[in-house]
Amino acid sequence: MSSATPTRREVLSVIGHTAAGLAFVPVAGSALGADAGSRSAIRVGIIGAGNRSGAHIAPLKALPDRCRITAVCDIERARAEAALVKVGGDAKPFTSHTNLLAAKLCDAVFVITPNYTHKEIAVDALKAGCHVLCEKPMATTLDDAREIVDAVRSSKKVFSVGLQFRFASVYRRVRDLVASGAIGDLKYVWAEEFRGDWARLFKDSQENARRNWRYYQKLSGGTLLEKNCHDFDILGWVIGNKPVRVTASGGNSVYRDRETIDHASVTVDYENGVQFALGVCMFAKVGRYQTTLVGTDGMIEFPRGGNQVTIRRPKQKDEVLRLVEQTGDSYGHHGTRELHLDFLDAIGTGRAPLTNVNVGYDAMHVPIAAEEAIRNHRVIEFKQVAS
Ligand SMILES: NC(=O)c1ccc[n+]([C@@H]2O[C@H](COP(=O)([O-])OP(=O)(O)OC[C@H]3O[C@@H](n4cnc5c(N)ncnc54)[C@H](O)[C@@H]3O)[C@@H](O)[C@H]2O)c1
Repeated sequence: MSSATPTRREVLSVIGHTAAGLAFVPVAGSALGADAGSRSAIRVGIIGAGNRSGAHIAPLKALPDRCRITAVCDIERARAEAALVKVGGDAKPFTSHTNLLAAKLCDAVFVITPNYTHKEIAVDALKAGCHVLCEKPMATTLDDAREIVDAVRSSKKVFSVGLQFRFASVYRRVRDLVASGAIGDLKYVWAEEFRGDWARLFKDSQENARRNWRYYQKLSGGTLLEKNCHDFDILGWVIGNKPVRVTASGGNSVYRDRETIDHASVTVDYENGVQFALGVCMFAKVGRYQTTLVGTDGMIEFPRGGNQVTIRRPKQKDEVLRLVEQTGDSYGHHGTRELHLDFLDAIGTGRAPLTNVNVGYDAMHVPIAAEEAIRNHRVIEFKQVAS
């Protein structure tokens, strides 16, 4: 396993790549997808049968014409078997991803394991000829992410990352509103993730170490990468510009049982002058996920996971837009069904998925820089180091 703490070289590479532009790696278009044109149900393997797997299994089962879950793998047999009950049919259980791949039961696999395992499983799956949908973040270090990028390039298989908010109607609408000038020129974005603890504590210390991978920097990549790569990705997409500077402060003020931080304030400056400030608090007793975008003529407000957007302008009644209800899970992770459809469609047509490997790679840069800024009390200047 490579270190999740970015080395100086990694941070330099964050900076160099980001300054060079956000689409770092050319994605093969029509070259992708050996199954182009095929409309038969795609055989899917689930690797990792923990909490998040349910949010994938249920919507996949609702697409019987498009896909069929043929295998489930978890290193803990009991979890694989519990997931098999949810999957139904004649799916086969495995306790090792290499055995699952060797069985050749799958055209595509979903990698839903702890972050530190993503690189090995994703690369093995691509080499075995499978298309891959890998949960976010696609790796814990940029070196590992680049290995995945290389494996995608040489395999010519479809690779998608679980950044499902790119498909959530609320963010799509907000992006359109900003682009249409609904609030004038966008200048400032404020987002917050105020929530309770994100992992259960197990009594047995060995079980705790095995299951609470989110407590450890190396296993998770850090709170801001594991949890907030979503926010940096999706709001960066709305802002539509290159980040040039990251400042951040944070630490552990409540939870003393872990390495990963429990709160942070992160500021990202973009080349076009927009500033994005994210407040993260993992010990809030009441959840709040509000986002506010401030433009020269007004503001847009919406909660993450909601279906409603409010536009506020001076001397006007607030305009409330109610969006088409979207499926999500109990955490408001909207867009998962659409993420699946995009992935399956990409396999069938040979086009690149919307959340392709470049998007997944780019989504890691700001959170890794923010973790570095907190650890070493320094400002990360993307441009300065690149020149
Ligand atoms: N896209 C989203 O909004 C979203 C939401 C939640 C979680 N996630 C991501 O999903 C992934 C899994 O999160 P989770 O909450 O389900 O974690 P979890 O700990 O509940 O489940 C992970 C499962 O993987 C199994 N596992 C560990 N190593 C394995 C290996 N080498 N091969 C097969 N199985 C293995 C574990 O036994 C466990 O059952 C993480 O990458 C997380 O960041 C994404």
